Amino acid sequence: MIGILGAGSLGRLWAALFPQDQVAFLPRPDADPAAATLGYTFESIQGSQRTIALPWLQSPDDLTLLLVTTKAGDTLDALQHWLPRIPESAPIVLFQNGLGSQQAVADAWPERPILAASTTEGANRPDAARVVHAGTGETWVGPLTSAARTELAGVVAQLSITGLLVHAEDEILPRLWQKLVVNAGINPFTAILDCPNGDILANEFFLSHIDPLCSEIARLMAAGGIGTPSPEELRQRIETVARNTARNTSSMRGDILNGRTTEIDFINGYLVQLGRRLDIPTAVNQLLTDKVKQLSPH
Ligand SMILES: NC(=O)c1ccc[n+]([C@@H]2O[C@H](COP(=O)([O-])OP(=O)(O)OC[C@H]3O[C@@H](n4cnc5c(N)ncnc54)[C@H](OP(=O)(O)O)[C@@H]3O)[C@@H](O)[C@H]2O)c1
Repeated sequence: MIGILGAGSLGRLWAALFPQDQVAFLPRPDADPAAATLGYTFESIQGSQRTIALPWLQSPDDLTLLLVTTKAGDTLDALQHWLPRIPESAPIVLFQNGLGSQQAVADAWPERPILAASTTEGANRPDAARVVHAGTGETWVGPLTSAARTELAGVVAQLSITGLLVHAEDEILPRLWQKLVVNAGINPFTAILDCPNGDILANEFFLSHIDPLCSEIARLMAAGGIGTPSPEELRQRIETVARNTARNTSSMRGDILNGRTTEIDFINGYLVQLGRRLDIPTAVNQLLTDKVKQLSPH
């Protein structure tokens, strides 16, 4: 049985695409034990709709794979509740954006097969009972603990049953960083300016902060042994994605608009923490983190 912890947009997307007799959601600790199934309408990338009704997991003993699709800030707590009851051999795939939460999980259970995924699939929930596969992309999965190395091929094969494009990535950290850079350069600006991605590009606040932001990130990447892209390359990468997704609302802006906690602590906030450890100043990351936190509940 494949388990999904985090029955939100991304979790419901993967759940809808697995064979329906092989997948179940893991309930929140406070969930009604009498609730037997979770039902929703799934809208595929082609626009077709089908009704999904999946069970809540009753017995964690027969889990062969766990996908964790909670937000970064909920992940450690959610796993602390479940992992004592899940077989030690079951691979655990973390889908969170940003960085920090994945390392916290791998540090807490270093003996378990823990993997991280970076995905460009996009899913959203226009209302509580509907999930839309809004953008198709690719997913890279790689090991975080040594016990995960031998599981990688099997995990990729299991995830590929969904029909989504999934790749094995032996070095997942640089890939998580690539997404972190783009998220750090787009998300906080869209949240602070309350605009779609493309609109940041001509905004004075973005224009006056993007170069120093990219310099901070480039120094952190070099000092952390991640790579040596120039600040100009980073800016180009950020602006290309903002242009290509010009009409999209970032997840961080969406969280603010919906009164939800954002993942800023795992994006710009993570870069601030890393700067402290490496003794590299991160004034712009700190400014963006503070401004987003002023806008969101926490
Ligand atoms: N959506 C995407 O297209 C996408 C793409 C790439 C990466 N990601 C990343 O994937 C992660 C999930 O994103 P999302 O958009 O799916 O978020 P989401 O819609 O907010 O889903 C998160 C789900 O986790 C549940 N949850 C929170 N704490 C839990 C716990 N202790 N036990 C069980 N379930 C718990 C939440 O339940 P409640 O609803 O009850 O709060 C919610 O249903 C994020 O890190 C995001 O950055 C998302």
